Amino acid sequence: MKHTVVILIAAMVLSSCSKPKQKRYQASSPDGNIEVDFNVNNQGEPFYLVAFNNKAIVDTSYLGFDFVNVKSIKDNFKIINSTASTFNETWRMPWGEQEDVVNHYNELRVELEETSELNRKVNLVFKVYNDGIGFRYEFPEQPNFKEALIAEEQTEFNLTEDYKTFWIPGDWEIYEHLYSTTKLSEIDAISKRNHPNLAQTHIPNNAVNTPVTMVGEDGTHLSFHEAALVDYSGMTLEVDTENLNLKSVLVGSENTKHKVKRKVPFHTPWRTLQIAENAPELIESKLIINLNEPNKLEDISWFTPMKYTGVWWEMHLGKSTWDLASGKHGATTENVKKYIDFSAKNNIGGVLVEGWNTGWSEEEGGFDFVTPYPDYNLDEVTRYANEKGVEIIMHHETYGGVDTYIKQQDSAYALMKSLGIHTVKSGYVFTLSPKGEYHHGQFMVNHHNNSAINGAKYQVAINAHEPIKATGLRRTYPNIISREGLRGQEFNAWAEDGGNPPEHLPIVAFTRMLAGPIDYTPGIFNIKFDKYKPNNQVNTTLAQQLALYVVIYSPVQMAADLLEHYEANPKALQFIKDVGVDWQQTKVLNGEVGDFVTIARQERDTGNWFVGGITDENARTITVDFSFLNDTETYQATIYKDGENAHWNDNPLDLDVETVNVTKDSKLTLNLAKGGGFAISLMK
Ligand code: NOJ
Ligand code: CA
Repeated sequence: MKHTVVILIAAMVLSSCSKPKQKRYQASSPDGNIEVDFNVNNQGEPFYLVAFNNKAIVDTSYLGFDFVNVKSIKDNFKIINSTASTFNETWRMPWGEQEDVVNHYNELRVELEETSELNRKVNLVFKVYNDGIGFRYEFPEQPNFKEALIAEEQTEFNLTEDYKTFWIPGDWEIYEHLYSTTKLSEIDAISKRNHPNLAQTHIPNNAVNTPVTMVGEDGTHLSFHEAALVDYSGMTLEVDTENLNLKSVLVGSENTKHKVKRKVPFHTPWRTLQIAENAPELIESKLIINLNEPNKLEDISWFTPMKYTGVWWEMHLGKSTWDLASGKHGATTENVKKYIDFSAKNNIGGVLVEGWNTGWSEEEGGFDFVTPYPDYNLDEVTRYANEKGVEIIMHHETYGGVDTYIKQQDSAYALMKSLGIHTVKSGYVFTLSPKGEYHHGQFMVNHHNNSAINGAKYQVAINAHEPIKATGLRRTYPNIISREGLRGQEFNAWAEDGGNPPEHLPIVAFTRMLAGPIDYTPGIFNIKFDKYKPNNQVNTTLAQQLALYVVIYSPVQMAADLLEHYEANPKALQFIKDVGVDWQQTKVLNGEVGDFVTIARQERDTGNWFVGGITDENARTITVDFSFLNDTETYQATIYKDGENAHWNDNPLDLDVETVNVTKDSKLTLNLAKGGGFAISLMK
């Protein structure tokens, strides 16, 4: 008997030796639903695959680099080592969509070495979460590779289905495009060149910018992006419409052959793929921010999330101007004091002042970030704001003149510090100087990151317009508070193409918003503004404008309209007065990409809840289930909803406000108008 067992075991060992099984390099998500496989093929080419619920999502996809001076990294590799590990922590957001964030993943680290003469080394690191994957390349210190002049990154995502795709073109200059909804195989980014309302645009490939979101036949939702974009250039994804393949195309520069220059050792940003069973899960995913390093700033208590008004929409409507010479200058001491009074009276923390400094007209010879126009008394305005408990938000428009801004940045930040101003809105509209650089190349990635690091020294938090894309760096530098990087509300004031259509924000919530906070500037009450621009308007109902304070996340949230338009509608203004801006928790109650979304957020400190829902050009009925309240309290719910005859174009101001009591057992059915929405405040 004993013998038989020994023989049996020997036979098993022998048979497994005679048919050597190839070793698998694998990692799965903690819940087991997502699986990543990595290996090198017979030519030594590294590749990976991703499966979700046992179905291939990413088929064999190759990885590599081209350089301007040395041979590509793409084949003749062997695996010299691999390690697997698990990580699980909960970290705290100083401000954000929620207070506690779970960061739980399984990691696979594979070390590769070239078998050919240079013996270069590269490590592939995969982190597999329940809500998706991130992977990056790490180049360790090594004798035959000291500096990388990257001509192109060759990262593939070989997809297995012709997804319904929500995309903007892979523009190296600007993210302010309308989204298109097409099949993956029908993406035509080139047709988006030369939009008349974009100050600068450059779309060299049939590529898309990220986040790009896709919906599959079986309801699987994917979104591709990147995390921790540091000292590298932004990645667009070129679309092979025939083979349903995405491939990285880095943003380049006209000044160098390489797109990225790095000293070895270094690592790339994370290439990310969020994977969800439904649309709401995409918004709740914390993959991008989790892939960033923990907070490096010692103290961020000097920044407080706030709502703000501003000398801003009046310029976009043409009521006043940024420059002085027009005779209609907006940023006067007297005018700004009115905004301060209004903010103080309405529980709004800040006032943005654009057009305060010299340089807005050509004759003035460039922007100066420390010299106010003569009709604007900066000291008096900040003193007055202080007295009223309101913060002034500084404005630094560069017009793309980054080289001169870099020279002035220290004195500009020092002035802010001396005045106790902690927030700046910066702007990079128009083509850049240094000439030949693009808004999303390595030069600008470094400029934005350096500005944040420098800003922290002066206790300055940054809300950039025409920014680099958000990649979750707010975790590491929480003074990166918000940004534009999408087609904002301003387009409704002047775009010649009719402005942002009703489907715009129901797409943005599941695309751009996955990257990070958005300075969309909601709250336009005077939807048609015929007095100023009879050919333009906002393409939503008033109720939807209120909903945006909850749906669109930002720690600085503008009440963008003119004061007189708010004063004329105290009933609707009450919601802006009440709504929170910093959240304990967020629950996405329902939604479909491009159609509608409902989000509930609980305010930190007060525990009050706010709910916002928006729809596209279709009217629809939404039932809000209040089981998220999760306590036994009765809340007083004030509901701001589309009136019976509301319609984004025919009757946008038809708003009903009603107050009822709700508990966690309540359900409420709401009718959303075409282009409409609803907002609910729930106070204990
Ligand atoms: C474009 C920005 O998006 C807008 O908010 C700002 O008012 C103008 N540039 C002027 O700086
Ligand atoms: Ca802009």
